[in-house]
Amino acid sequence: MKLPRTAAAATLLLSSTTIATNNPLTPDKLEADIKTEELQNVLWNLNHIALTNGGNRAYGEPGFKASLDFVLERVQTRFGDHFDTVVQPFNHTYDKTLQIKVTGPEGEDVFVVSPLYNPATPLPGGITAQLVDTPVDDERGSGCFPEQWEGIEVTGKLALVKRGACAVAIKSTLAKERGALGVILYDEEPGTNIIVPTLGAENIGLLVPIGIIPLEVGTSWKARLAAGEEVTVSLLVDAVSETRETWNVIAETKQGDPNKVVMLGAHLDSVQKGAGINDDGSGTAALLEIMTAVRRYDSFPNKIRFAWWGAEESGLVGSLYYTSHLTEAEADRIKYYFNYDMIGSPQPDFSIASNANSGVGPQLLEEYLVAQGKEVRHGGFGTGSDFVGFIELGIPSASLHTGAGAPYDACYHQACDDLDNVHWDALTVNAKAAARAAARLANSLEGVPPREKTSQNRRTRRGVVQSFRRWAAVAEEASQGHTCSHKGKKIRV
Ligand SMILES: *[C@@H]1O[C@H](CO)[C@@H](O)[C@H](O)[C@H]1NC(C)=O
Ligand SMILES: [Zn+2]
Repeated sequence: MKLPRTAAAATLLLSSTTIATNNPLTPDKLEADIKTEELQNVLWNLNHIALTNGGNRAYGEPGFKASLDFVLERVQTRFGDHFDTVVQPFNHTYDKTLQIKVTGPEGEDVFVVSPLYNPATPLPGGITAQLVDTPVDDERGSGCFPEQWEGIEVTGKLALVKRGACAVAIKSTLAKERGALGVILYDEEPGTNIIVPTLGAENIGLLVPIGIIPLEVGTSWKARLAAGEEVTVSLLVDAVSETRETWNVIAETKQGDPNKVVMLGAHLDSVQKGAGINDDGSGTAALLEIMTAVRRYDSFPNKIRFAWWGAEESGLVGSLYYTSHLTEAEADRIKYYFNYDMIGSPQPDFSIASNANSGVGPQLLEEYLVAQGKEVRHGGFGTGSDFVGFIELGIPSASLHTGAGAPYDACYHQACDDLDNVHWDALTVNAKAAARAAARLANSLEGVPPREKTSQNRRTRRGVVQSFRRWAAVAEEASQGHTCSHKGKKIRV
């Protein structure tokens, strides 16, 4: 049948109007919209950004700003009709080790890694001093308690300490209190694949310079000291430390009830050592693709809000800034928070973190993953990623991650966290699980418990002070224990 021209035009107009006003969001549709090629495209771009900006996308570096612009080009420039976007600025202490050098007793250069917020040694010469051994305690940690330093004469010397069990900053603080000039810390694991810890911006002024060397080197020096030999080594650290502004990007659907918000978060920054493609380009890409798909639908009752956090690697700084600045009313409107950090690890270990207040969220993620033949593990929340602030506010939350450190991701926090460091099937399946869970909660909050309010009343003066102390404690813990989703104890600190 051939319709008259005008009638055909009218039909076309009618049908397009119908589509535009009635294209309900469903888990099935959103799942189908997520494509491996598109996730690859995002990660290619993030990797390219790192390659053309000094090799990283870290807080305070041009690669982070370029990553931010990449997200904004989509949420604001291309899809601004569908999303309201806020760029939230905040300040933090930027830190970078410009140079670190450890010279051994024979004048040899030793492989060495610098922690974040490592204080500088005197320059240009550094510190050359006698090395003093400290006892190893793998159970409680070496150099973690004041009594472990008793009777050890480190004044004016360099202390040789084994890594592990407590934060590196604690070992450094105790060494400083004992008068040491610096610490030579040897790793717990053999080899040069040394995870970079952070000493925390809040500890500036309390620390001595540190060089982290391989276990093998530390053990050999320990043996020479035990044999009564005098071992003299040098440590040189050149570092910069200053306040720099950075940003969170928060974009939410125009569609949906502003009092019922389902939130998805991933961090946009990498560490300084690499491009951060699994950590957390993977979560960033999942959110971008879910957002890109969501714009096609116009019929769902609850808002979906996407957050790309800044300065996560510096201690969850962006997400803690966001959550600690929410009013009670604003916190009440966030009905659920999903965190996606490292969801494409090369040897994926599908782990869902939840607590008693997580409601249906973990189940939604698990159901889909199990249906795809994945083995799923469950655990509690640590302090490893951006869920911390939301849990502190009692907002029902769940998090998905696939493991940090070998064997899951041997390139964790390394330069090799690039395009070759992604398990594309795991990333795709996880992004689809995330899409389904978001679509389900955007349609219905059934199975979502109410926000767990604390007994503290922040409107009272005392409440405000308590709240401030609480957030300071949260920030400190996050900065100390932070390892991006890693569940093993060994490389937590
Ligand atoms: C960050 O610090 C700069 C310089 O001190 C200041 O002008 C700016 O207002 C600060 N931004 C925020 C969000 O606090
Ligand atoms: Zn991460």
